[in-house]
Amino acid sequence: MQLIKTKDKLEGSKKGLEIIEKAIRNGEVKTLGLATGSTPELFYAEFIKSDVDTSDVTTVNLDEYVGLAADDPNSYHYYMNDLLFSKRQFKESFLPNGEATDAEAECAHYEEILNTHPVDIQILGIGTNGHIGFNEPGTSFDSLTHKVLLTESTREANKVHFEKEEDVPTHAYSMGIKSIMNAKKIILFAFGKSKAEAIKETINGSVDVNCPASVLQNHPDVTIIVDEEAASLL
Ligand code: F6R
Repeated sequence: MQLIKTKDKLEGSKKGLEIIEKAIRNGEVKTLGLATGSTPELFYAEFIKSDVDTSDVTTVNLDEYVGLAADDPNSYHYYMNDLLFSKRQFKESFLPNGEATDAEAECAHYEEILNTHPVDIQILGIGTNGHIGFNEPGTSFDSLTHKVLLTESTREANKVHFEKEEDVPTHAYSMGIKSIMNAKKIILFAFGKSKAEAIKETINGSVDVNCPASVLQNHPDVTIIVDEEAASLL
């Protein structure tokens, strides 16, 4: 694992973008794995200012809430269109279909997409409980794309984006831990004090399903980009 400590979220986002831009310019990125949430917002804001050509790059996202349509302002489809896809051209972009009613078929279909488009660089955020994607503590390291029951702590953390707490979906479709680990390279961003404990466990803890991100210790090419607060317990 490579650890890059930066002053703040902006510096960290720029550092991550620098690595990705270089890889795209070198022709090393056919498929880019993307994340949502508050962590990569500045990264996308910087990305849309870059002159790097992404018209030949395919994107795949980690997850989507079950039950939300692509045009629902709280869906991850909407988030991605709003922050990135409406502003930059990509070859193709994939997210799980939140409206799919046959969960098993949707997850198998998404795995097929990942097999056809192996991820060259995957961006990750991290939950305060160490989740990656929506793989909550206890999720098997062998998991592929699956339907997840969100924990109360994750629903609580995400409720800021919703009008009412009861509007926060209870389930999501998420790439599994094995699907994430298949990426050739992984860049995990963590900013703010609330991520400090999870980052400590991820880097210094034992590899254990209770901290899903700790599995990254087993990956050959992981870069963790943190700000001072997220690094404060290291
Ligand atoms: C988002 C995702 C999640 C978030 C994590 C952190 O696609 O898969 O794992 O990265 O919940 O969320 P924020 O960035 O909002 O703190």
